[in-house]
Amino acid sequence: MNIILLGPPGAGKGTQAKILQERYHIGQIATGDMLRAEVKAGSELGKVAKAIMEAGELVPDDLIITMLRHRLAQPDCQHGFILDGFPRTVPQAEALDAMLASQKQDLRAVILLKVDEDVLVDRIAGRFSCAKCGASYHDVMHPTIKAGICDKCGATEFVHRPDDNPTTVKQRFTAYNNQTAPIVPYYQGKHIYYEVDGMADMNDVTAAIEAALRKAGVAAPSAAAAD
Ligand code: AP5
Repeated sequence: MNIILLGPPGAGKGTQAKILQERYHIGQIATGDMLRAEVKAGSELGKVAKAIMEAGELVPDDLIITMLRHRLAQPDCQHGFILDGFPRTVPQAEALDAMLASQKQDLRAVILLKVDEDVLVDRIAGRFSCAKCGASYHDVMHPTIKAGICDKCGATEFVHRPDDNPTTVKQRFTAYNNQTAPIVPYYQGKHIYYEVDGMADMNDVTAAIEAALRKAGVAAPSAAAAD
């Protein structure tokens, strides 16, 4: 099964995608994480993407679509995936449909996490992640269980994303409203579109996503390994 999680910066896409990945045994594809890996590696794509990401703009469609096409061709994607951060423009949504059609696949559900902008600002301001395994936390809403120690891998170093500063965040919201929000009508007409209250407690958001997936005909997690 192939799922898209949509939502503005800080909506909880990455948080929920990681939970669904483990429960449904399908891969998470986060284009933001892929781009950050390219930046860290100093690749040609990373060099182009770095300044764009730091400015809070969107990386050009042709570069992102090429990156995603390579990723979807990997064997682990043949059994289903959760997309987090893609598509972000109507041309990206159209390119995804074409890629899936060429592989005789389709989308099972597109789920929008709805969160008010003032809440998003607080979430992004408090976000930090483990420098070793990338697990994401929040100062107040999702701290580590033991202060200064990653719950997942036990590492003690944490990082803040360079694009989580107030100026860049403002531009990221502008990019979302102008370029990404218009893809909602693209999916609304396809009967695979669901909206979830992303302001709820994390566990309640997961439950609401799973309810949407059941409506979309996706097996409950206990039976999902065979889906
Ligand atoms: P990307 O990395 O995709 O960033 P984003 O979309 O701005 O989303 P975030 O990662 O900020 O938020 P999230 O929704 O994953 O929230 P999270 O779960 O972390 O993209 C970065 C950049 O890369 C873009 O600006 C662009 O330049 C480029 N890019 C990427 N993809 C692209 C594409 N397709 N095309 C062009 N350019 C692209 O949660 C946030 C915080 O809130 C965390 O601290 C978390 O613990 C907390 N939290 C989560 N859920 C809850 C809850 N229910 N209650 C309380 N706290 C919560």
